[in-house]
Amino acid sequence: MESTHIKVVLVGFGSVSQHFCKIILLKQRPKKLFERIRVVGVCDSSGAIYDENGFSLQQLLNHKEKTGLVEFASTQNQEQIRSFKDAEEMVKSIPSYDVLVDASPVNLNDGNPGLQCARISIARGANVVFANKAPLVLDYKGLHDLAIEQKVEIAFSATVCGGLPVINVGQRDLVGADFVSIKGIFNSTTNYILSQMELGNSREHALAEAQKTGIAEADPHLDVAGIDTANKLVIIANSLLKIDTPIRLEQVVICGIEKISKQDLDSAKAEGYTIKLVASATMDKNMKKYSYTVAPERVEIDSFLGRASNTDMCICFETDIYETISMKTNETGVFPTSAAVLRDILNMKRFKLK
Ligand SMILES: NC(=O)c1ccc[n+]([C@@H]2O[C@H](COP(=O)([O-])OP(=O)(O)OC[C@H]3O[C@@H](n4cnc5c(N)ncnc54)[C@H](OP(=O)(O)O)[C@@H]3O)[C@@H](O)[C@H]2O)c1
Repeated sequence: MESTHIKVVLVGFGSVSQHFCKIILLKQRPKKLFERIRVVGVCDSSGAIYDENGFSLQQLLNHKEKTGLVEFASTQNQEQIRSFKDAEEMVKSIPSYDVLVDASPVNLNDGNPGLQCARISIARGANVVFANKAPLVLDYKGLHDLAIEQKVEIAFSATVCGGLPVINVGQRDLVGADFVSIKGIFNSTTNYILSQMELGNSREHALAEAQKTGIAEADPHLDVAGIDTANKLVIIANSLLKIDTPIRLEQVVICGIEKISKQDLDSAKAEGYTIKLVASATMDKNMKKYSYTVAPERVEIDSFLGRASNTDMCICFETDIYETISMKTNETGVFPTSAAVLRDILNMKRFKLK
């Protein structure tokens, strides 16, 4: 294999990883950007496989669709494929690789398998790209410090609002800013549910629709109870705000949308408001301390947040030197998140094309 190839290991082969592979298959131009990517390792809940030459992505996708497993069929040269019982065993055992993509489910108990695989990969000198929020929510500083020590990069733009470049804009384009507040709608599933309830559709039907498109969390309680939004707020706070001690999920006051009824939405509407699940990090008046909340809020129908409906997600950065910058995305499926994973890989210093 030429050294210009980017050897990728995927932890998790669900919606995000599969759409990542589909993008690489679909995108022909510029060829030199995409043809370098080789998926050499992949795992799901049933086990892990490795091929030093890189898998045929189409075969991987076909096989997963047909069998539900990544474990490979005899269509490829079996001899060069090594199998492992799980992701951790694979990332410990295989020859060096360039980047680990963590697209495994959110596990807020211990962050695994993502957290452990990320630590092993960084220690082995590989870069890590996260779509999974849990490792960053549980140990942002540990991963950040380890990456600096090992001189590798970690990137996580896919963890917050799919393809909307919240982290990139916050870190790069708002350089030097102090944030007076960061406020937004970070979860498309709950935004879709609230918009559909406003139209008279049931909460259950709207959730089922969101699940069908792949945008809902594997455990939809994380969406509906506001925990997914709070996870994103923690990642934004720890990566963008100049705070001495990283914040923990327990410091976010969280209220979900479970108790919002059609009547609440109707009475808000009658007064010119709509209800949104809003995440906020707000600096106090003395500019000393942030408070963090996730809660359903009445916002004016014609405001920036009020106009974000259905699967829209958005963010407003209120800053000292750039004034207020707002961004919005409408994402109807998983492609933008997978594109953000790809973006993070292609933007890494060691993979930049000259
Ligand atoms: N979907 C989105 O729009 C979106 C957006 C932003 C961030 N994310 C985050 O990205 C991550 C992946 O999301 P997704 O939508 O792709 O989820 P998903 O469709 O549920 O896929 C999860 C994958 O992880 C695998 N898995 C489960 N337990 C595992 C284990 N112990 N070891 C290795 N693999 C394991 C699953 O295996 P099986 O296939 O065998 O079940 C599946 O392949 C999640 O953390 C999610 O929060 C998703």
